[in-house]
Amino acid sequence: MKTIDELLHEGVEGKRVFVRADLNVPLDGTTITDDGRIRAVVPTVKALADAGARVVVASHLGRPKGAPDPAFSLAPAAARLGELLGADVAFATDTVGDSATETVAGLGDGQVAVLENLRFNPGETSKDDAERGAFADRLAALADLYVGDGFGAVHRKHASVYDLPARIPHAAGHLIATEVGVLKKLTEDVQRPYVVALGGAKVSDKLGVIDHLLEKADRILIGGGMAYTFLKAQGHEVGISLLQEDQVPAVQEYLARAKERGVEFVLPVDVLVSREFPDLKTKAPANPTTVAADAIPADEEGLDIGPETRKLYASKLADAATVFWNGPMGVFEHPDYAEGTKAVAQALVDSPAFTVVGGGDSAAAVRTLGFDENAFGHISTGGGASLEYLEGKTLPGLAALED
Ligand code: 3PG
Repeated sequence: MKTIDELLHEGVEGKRVFVRADLNVPLDGTTITDDGRIRAVVPTVKALADAGARVVVASHLGRPKGAPDPAFSLAPAAARLGELLGADVAFATDTVGDSATETVAGLGDGQVAVLENLRFNPGETSKDDAERGAFADRLAALADLYVGDGFGAVHRKHASVYDLPARIPHAAGHLIATEVGVLKKLTEDVQRPYVVALGGAKVSDKLGVIDHLLEKADRILIGGGMAYTFLKAQGHEVGISLLQEDQVPAVQEYLARAKERGVEFVLPVDVLVSREFPDLKTKAPANPTTVAADAIPADEEGLDIGPETRKLYASKLADAATVFWNGPMGVFEHPDYAEGTKAVAQALVDSPAFTVVGGGDSAAAVRTLGFDENAFGHISTGGGASLEYLEGKTLPGLAALED
């Protein structure tokens, strides 16, 4: 894989360089609540601008339906990128239309522009190769070189991720190089014990990675909404908790295979329950009660791991040499249900192990809960991407940078 360093060595002065970033940041209206993904691409953008390139940054944000939608505008992200660079950043109000053409044509050497949300064009995410290709052709007309640095999106076979690099000379940016380097440490020559903590809402999103980790990890801790499907698979009633009934057989099979292979599966022993989902806007007190994991009342739902489970998970993380964590342990956005996620984050902070926080919600959680990012070995910008990498899948956005 050619890297940005080689590109810089060859010289980029005066060249239009398309940087596919992942600026898909959480927004509250137009306020960015976690700018981690924008900060992560700054080294690449800065290196190119400092070398005299005309930098065209592009990304998706959210999942608009292939047409402009102001709720998903990248304008706030472009403004934040400008603040972080300490420079003016131009903003094109479309992706491949007049505004994009004029904005890119107006760039001087060392200047930066951001295009509007790529997913405002249906060609970006189309399943039809020709439709994606046609959009990639129009994007290619805006640039001389391509730098892939949107690690969070490399698992998507999208025009700007997969088709565009096939059309112009390309290289991997600093962020992708770092992320791939870290994930290699979790797949090759892993230091043991290797402990994985998985949370988040849906078991179905994690089945592939669990399947793969049964061959790699020594211990797997389960929390978050997906824990209730595991509890059900063990024969417990889970009240009105999140449950993917159709996944129960698959989970039972994994539990059986884990036993055969000597992989320790650790499930919650107690949980915080309530009759109602908490109000995440007002954050009004939720007054949950703590119950044993096998005694969830029929009219209540589990919303976080309980105090005994927090202690148990901290002890199961304490002797690890390598830790991968993906997915919050509970509804951490509400203070009454944040303790489980905090306890796992704290256990990683206290651990001398090589610790990796796998993207998306868990990365946002550690930052919004006030943890120092530097206390972790690595905080990935990719949730789905890091999981698919660990599953051993070929990621379209990395494959496209290989040749
Ligand atoms: C993410 O948030 O994981 C990436 O930005 C990819 O977004 P997507 O799941 O909408 O493709």
